[in-house]
Amino acid sequence: MKALVLSGGKGTRLRPLTYTMAKQLMPVANRPILHYVMDQISDVGIKEVGVIISPETGQQIKEALKANPWGFHFSFLLQEEPKGLAHAVMVAQEFLSCEPFLMYLGDNLIGQDIEGFVEEFQISSPDALILLKEVENPRMFGVAEVDGQGNIERLIEKPKEPPSNLALVGIYLFSPLVHEAISEIEPSWRGELEITDAIQKLLDKGGTIKSFILEKWWLDTGKKDDLLEANRVVLDELIRRELRGDVDEKSKVTGRVDLAEKAQVEGSTIRGPVVVGEGTIIRRSFIGPYTSIGDNCVIEDAVLEHSVILDGAVVKGIERLEDSIVGRNAVVSKELHNSRALRLMIGDDAEVKI
Ligand code: DAU
Repeated sequence: MKALVLSGGKGTRLRPLTYTMAKQLMPVANRPILHYVMDQISDVGIKEVGVIISPETGQQIKEALKANPWGFHFSFLLQEEPKGLAHAVMVAQEFLSCEPFLMYLGDNLIGQDIEGFVEEFQISSPDALILLKEVENPRMFGVAEVDGQGNIERLIEKPKEPPSNLALVGIYLFSPLVHEAISEIEPSWRGELEITDAIQKLLDKGGTIKSFILEKWWLDTGKKDDLLEANRVVLDELIRRELRGDVDEKSKVTGRVDLAEKAQVEGSTIRGPVVVGEGTIIRRSFIGPYTSIGDNCVIEDAVLEHSVILDGAVVKGIERLEDSIVGRNAVVSKELHNSRALRLMIGDDAEVKI
């Protein structure tokens, strides 16, 4: 079986970060989301992976996958414009040929492995196997209407009046019949060829659709709070205590803290779960739980908690920073002599709450 990973699109909801970075590369516990996706695909034994890329961020995606610890054979497939998930499958048609395939949205994270779903698909060979998850805000997703026996009756993309709170998770298994269904759908109101409509088309044509309800967490990392939540959950579940960097005698590091090589902690307290990247310096600061700090950052005289600090960022003299995302090489500092005036250089679509 092959896998198709969708890493194109625009990523408007995470602006301004996604002006310069693909949203699938946003770090969660200091690893790009896309790497977790690849781990899952590798765990089910797939080796042939097609990756949909966009002209804007394709190069970054290739770069992020270059080390290829999974030993995949990658095919990078350029989608000129983000015309929808089903359109991405059309772009990949030649790569996929007539085989069944696993489709995985490159910005989706789930808290369980997918082996059971893949096995079930191989045993009962339905035309599509979908995963559903109960959500509070179904209007933002594809939504399934399910009968008393769990059979899918209808699927609708981003409904104004959702028939249920069961959202489609961005992980799908398809038989090659999906290509025919895609060729028969029209663009939606948002101008995209929706995979949800293609699955509905399969259903209309008498196809069999199997569904499972995801028991564990699912994070569609579309927005700032989703990214912080993903960071919290992954730090909680995956981080082990490992101190490879230097901690001086005036510092206190408690709990599950992953301190990378060449990181330095001086006169500070770190309370896990926390991850700190290579070459980062933490001085006279307190780093509270659920914080990820990337490589080569400088944190000085600051208190941080429940935040994601990307590579090369500097945070200095900040009394308390929480629930925040600080982009690559960004500087957040307070001048000691002038506490009243704010001096900002903020990029487009940035958000500053004081
Ligand atoms: O996350 C689950 C949801 O994903 C489902 O519930 C929806 O039914 C499904 O339509 C999709 O909704 P979104 O509107 O959130 O999809 P988004 O535009 O964020 O794209 C999802 C991923 O696919 C993202 O990594 C970008 C990539 N993509 C997207 C489009 C539109 C492409 O590679 N090409 C595209 O043309």
